[in-house]
Amino acid sequence: MKFFIDTANLDQIREANDLGVLDGVTTNPSLMAKENIKGEANIKKHYVDICNIVKGDVSAEVISTDYEGMIREGKELAALHPQIVVKVPCIKDGIKAIKYFTDNGIRTNCTLVFSVGQALLAAKAGATYVSPFIGRLDDVSTDGVELIRQIVNVYNYYEYGTKVLAASIRHTMHIIQCLEAGADVATCPLSAILGLLNHPLTDIGLKKFLADYKKVNG
Ligand code: G3P
Repeated sequence: MKFFIDTANLDQIREANDLGVLDGVTTNPSLMAKENIKGEANIKKHYVDICNIVKGDVSAEVISTDYEGMIREGKELAALHPQIVVKVPCIKDGIKAIKYFTDNGIRTNCTLVFSVGQALLAAKAGATYVSPFIGRLDDVSTDGVELIRQIVNVYNYYEYGTKVLAASIRHTMHIIQCLEAGADVATCPLSAILGLLNHPLTDIGLKKFLADYKKVNG
């Protein structure tokens, strides 16, 4: 399973990248706003800055909701850098736009996916990635990880090439559950990635190793 970081914060992207286990980045308009990145030129520059930090795919989301607008924006975003994947919402014009991008060699991430039916349309349109939002489903008493499992099964059975990118991950347990469910990618906040390291027995064990070393070595 690949690891993407879900943020537009350059320091966090650098920190995750320095770990040596980062495969890519996802952003969205809310994450860009959180970093106070505004204005078309600044937003585009920020995407390029992200691409220059990491080696893998970087999702950049369109803000148009009509077909023509999405096509114009998506072409501009894709032209910024070869690592850019155009993120498109799972709405009617979005599916049409994904089909256009697929036919024209532009990679896509179909976002805001909350059902198998939406994931089916994304795959049929040829999306590179589909992003089911598991945390937001959990928020409304629906099992987000179960949706990952269902989409993985359907894609495997029908041999769709679209990768399942588990999004809206909130904590380390989500990451482990996505691994078990067969997700191709998990995009996570830095806290969840670093949280995987935490174990009290590691801390206790390390403390004892160092104390024992000191006993005989001074
Ligand atoms: O990748 C999608 C993600 O940014 C949404 O996460 O926590 O706002 O539901 P969240």
